[in-house]
Amino acid sequence: MLLQFLFTVASVFSMASSHSFLVRSSEVTDFNISAAITWAHAVNNRSYLESCLASEDLKMIEADIVLGTLTTSQNSTVIPIMGHPPANTSDLSLEHFLSMVKEHNSNSFYAKGVKLDFKTIEVFEASLSILQSKWSEIDFPVWINADIVPGPVNATTIPVDPTRFFEGCALFDDAVLSIGWTTNFGGSIKKGTYTKGHIQSMLNVIEENKPTQKITFPVRAGIAAESLGNMQLLLQSVANSSLTIWSSEGDPVNVEHLKTLIMTIGLGSVYIDVPKDLFDQLGLYFGSSKTSPRLPPLPYILGLMIICFINLAVI
Ligand SMILES: *[C@@H]1O[C@H](CO)[C@@H](O)[C@H](O)[C@H]1NC(C)=O
Ligand SMILES: *[C@@H]1O[C@H](CO)[C@@H](O)[C@H](O)[C@H]1NC(C)=O
Ligand SMILES: *[C@@H]1O[C@H](CO)[C@@H](O)[C@H](O)[C@H]1NC(C)=O
Ligand SMILES: *[C@@H]1O[C@H](CO)[C@@H](O)[C@H](O)[C@H]1NC(C)=O
Ligand SMILES: *[C@@H]1O[C@H](CO)[C@@H](O)[C@H](O)[C@H]1NC(C)=O
Ligand SMILES: *[C@@H]1O[C@H](CO)[C@@H](O)[C@H](O)[C@H]1NC(C)=O
Repeated sequence: MLLQFLFTVASVFSMASSHSFLVRSSEVTDFNISAAITWAHAVNNRSYLESCLASEDLKMIEADIVLGTLTTSQNSTVIPIMGHPPANTSDLSLEHFLSMVKEHNSNSFYAKGVKLDFKTIEVFEASLSILQSKWSEIDFPVWINADIVPGPVNATTIPVDPTRFFEGCALFDDAVLSIGWTTNFGGSIKKGTYTKGHIQSMLNVIEENKPTQKITFPVRAGIAAESLGNMQLLLQSVANSSLTIWSSEGDPVNVEHLKTLIMTIGLGSVYIDVPKDLFDQLGLYFGSSKTSPRLPPLPYILGLMIICFINLAVI
């Protein structure tokens, strides 16, 4: 199969070059290869945030926000804190999280972006005044994420209210909106797809609320890999949109199907925020070596893109 060939060529090529190459954050932006952007996931406490900020290799920091209290003070006021349900305490508030990222970015050549995953409409609305008070000094990418539509497989989590979510987001016209589906996957549930109905529900709330910001759709790897046609339909229906492929540790994922999805959509229209072992299985050699910064070989990237294009035409 041609895809197999592509990955073989890519790996042979990268092994054959005498130095492994490194795609730096600024270069990633220059070359617009969103798939090469590196992620840290669930950065919901102070020590982990500190180590992520110190890591040159990371470009995007994903973190979750819930309502709760701080473990670092006696104050029992419920505020937006960094944490994943069912957690409702943290040593890091949303406000402090944003200050720490801002502080790092002001003093570093390699600025990092953040993806803020709001778990309920209540915590999102409670966070608006915090975001607004910081917004003027925020000069790094901020993605605002929520699951706003019910999704596979018969997910029962209550989605974040889409209308109230878009209303709040309207305050931040240069944010990226990351809007997804609730999911119920893994464990005994080994198969699922994003159906035409799921896609249509998302298109409906977009049509009703008419957001003006750039949109990315977070999709769960194991489910998206089985939904190629509907993923294409989704991206074709929303101008300049992209996929952000995420996965939970231990999710069942058909790696070949996921590779096909990524190469069909194109490396410039997908972000890949999956656990390291799954990322490694994808065989996307963007490099992560500790060698000094230098340009990624442009012919390699152009070659890869041309092969992708041919591949797309063949499929
Ligand atoms: C990368 O994308 C940005 C905006 O999407 C665009 O302005 C820029 O020209 C692109 N860079 C390259 C090298 O294509
Ligand atoms: C901080 O977060 C990381 C990643 O989610 C986790 O592995 C670690 O146990 C957390 N540390 C504390 C002190 O909660
Ligand atoms: C507790 O925290 C809230 C929210 O940050 C703040 O408005 C309030 O003044 C604090 N109370 C005390 C006693 O510090
Ligand atoms: C946090 O969760 C615990 C256990 O579920 C619960 O007892 C407590 O009331 C919650 N605290 C807040 C502030 O919601
Ligand atoms: C989801 O719902 C459909 C329709 O009610 C049903 O056929 C299917 O078995 C359900 N799947 C799971 C995993 O619950
Ligand atoms: C999509 O991107 C192109 C090129 O960056 C731009 O010209 C166009 O206005 C964008 N369309 C929408 C609907 O944002």
